[in-house]
Amino acid sequence: MRSFKLLASFGMLVTLGAAIDLVLGDQASVKSAASTIAFGLVSYYTGNRTGDTPGNLPDPYFWWEAGAMFGTLIDYWALTGDDSYNAITTQAIIHQGTENGDFMPRNQTRTLGNDDQGFWGMAAMSAAENRLPDPPADQPQWLALAQSLFNQWASRWDEASCGGGLRWQIFTFNNGFNYKNSISNGCFFNIAARLARYTGNETYAEWATKIFEWQETTGLITVDHNVRDGLTININDNTCNNMDTNLWSYNAGIFLHGAAVMYNHTNASSIWRTRVDGLLTAARATFFDPTNNIMFEQLCEPSGFCNNDQRSFKGYLTRWLAGTTQMAPHTFDAIRPLLETDAAAAAKVCVGDTPPPAFRGHRGTACGFRWTTGAFDGSVGVGEQMNALSAVMYTLVGRVAAAPVTAETGGTSRGNPEAKAHEEPGESVITLRDRVAAGFVTSAIALGVVAGCVFVSI
Ligand SMILES: *[C@@H]1O[C@H](CO)[C@@H](O)[C@H](O)[C@H]1NC(C)=O
Ligand SMILES: *[C@@H]1O[C@H](CO)[C@@H](O)[C@H](O)[C@H]1NC(C)=O
Ligand SMILES: *[C@@H]1O[C@H](CO)[C@@H](O)[C@H](O)[C@H]1NC(C)=O
Ligand SMILES: *[C@@H]1O[C@H](CO)[C@@H](O)[C@H](O)[C@H]1NC(C)=O
Ligand SMILES: *[C@@H]1O[C@H](CO)[C@@H](O)[C@H](O)[C@H]1NC(C)=O
Repeated sequence: MRSFKLLASFGMLVTLGAAIDLVLGDQASVKSAASTIAFGLVSYYTGNRTGDTPGNLPDPYFWWEAGAMFGTLIDYWALTGDDSYNAITTQAIIHQGTENGDFMPRNQTRTLGNDDQGFWGMAAMSAAENRLPDPPADQPQWLALAQSLFNQWASRWDEASCGGGLRWQIFTFNNGFNYKNSISNGCFFNIAARLARYTGNETYAEWATKIFEWQETTGLITVDHNVRDGLTININDNTCNNMDTNLWSYNAGIFLHGAAVMYNHTNASSIWRTRVDGLLTAARATFFDPTNNIMFEQLCEPSGFCNNDQRSFKGYLTRWLAGTTQMAPHTFDAIRPLLETDAAAAAKVCVGDTPPPAFRGHRGTACGFRWTTGAFDGSVGVGEQMNALSAVMYTLVGRVAAAPVTAETGGTSRGNPEAKAHEEPGESVITLRDRVAAGFVTSAIALGVVAGCVFVSI
């Protein structure tokens, strides 16, 4: 086992038992640490093995989290120049994009939420913005994949209840169809804002504004810019007065980043600046432990009860904080110290000596979940690994990475503004097995329970 040195940018030297060297501010050191953690992350992936399905992570990880992982790996490549994982990333997005380019794989029907699609769509958008080499012309293209989702979501916008908004689930027979949540609408908002900036098409910007205002009108985004989880639709009268007020880090992050993109797209409009600054202030106040300024998933981390999905959220807040500094440069000075503190804290807990099969990366480099304690907490997995990778690698933003491109500034991805779902499988094409497995939601039981939890699955 190698000796461990952690050197913060202010020159403090900390020696620990094992694992990863990280000198913040030293690009080579940050890249090397990121490479070690990324290797541990990708070691969970089996989708490129013969007979396995490209794009899927093994149980217990849901489909959406794989999309989140490939989005992270695109940024990893853009920030470090290490293209080791570009081939599996391209293969996965094309395969899960499906031959129809709509991110509606039949295999996911039982639990396919708008947010599940969204994490894959954001990966495709990142591919376009970072110029991941374009797929062959007969395959789905990055930009067109994101546009397909935009068009699907616009067509699913539902004014019949809560004055608008996207439902969580797509199919009526799935648990969660009666829930309108911030992450689904956040995916729509985030991609709409990025499409507006990338293509210059104002239709996307109008939708981004409409989604954000709907979040405000319903109170899902509060006057002090907290982003609450969602609204349950009362199936008897379509009213929406049952709010889940829980605050999760990814909801804050996805709206913060989208607002920063709109701020940029509108050339620093004051309304978007107010939103960016308000969301940032709220996120700092909520998701950073006041005693040490280290990010934590405040709702479940202190108690140790974060589920598999929730254990990956800090990585996305980190991603979107970093993206915010690129789109709204005035936030850089406020955000950079947060990112650096997190990078140091996260690297410090990547010292787990967890043996396979729980961890297949380099021994002694498994990342724990909690960053606030300075000690490895024994919790390992895709989320933990992706969080730490994000914490370390996003400190490179602003130093090495060029801002994401647009169609005007070098983007090459071919779009299709008319792309949409090939066919929304109506209930007729859903097999009885799917319906049974999905648990038929007609009876509304457990909806309160589901709504109180996080998205994805059942
Ligand atoms: C899958 O991809 C990883 C990462 O690029 C690589 O190390 C591994 O060899 C690949 N496995 C197969 C079976 O191609
Ligand atoms: C759906 O599942 C089948 C059987 O496992 C697999 O061959 C196929 O590649 C999967 N499709 C997608 C888009 O994942
Ligand atoms: C953006 O704002 C700057 C400063 O007000 C101004 O010089 C520039 O022309 C604006 N650009 C556009 C595209 O509106
Ligand atoms: C928009 O983003 C670009 C790229 O990071 C940046 O150079 C520019 O200053 C931003 N525009 C505004 C108005 O902040
Ligand atoms: C702009 O986007 C909208 C919505 O997808 C689309 O209908 C329209 O054709 C696009 N306009 C152009 C010029 O591409």
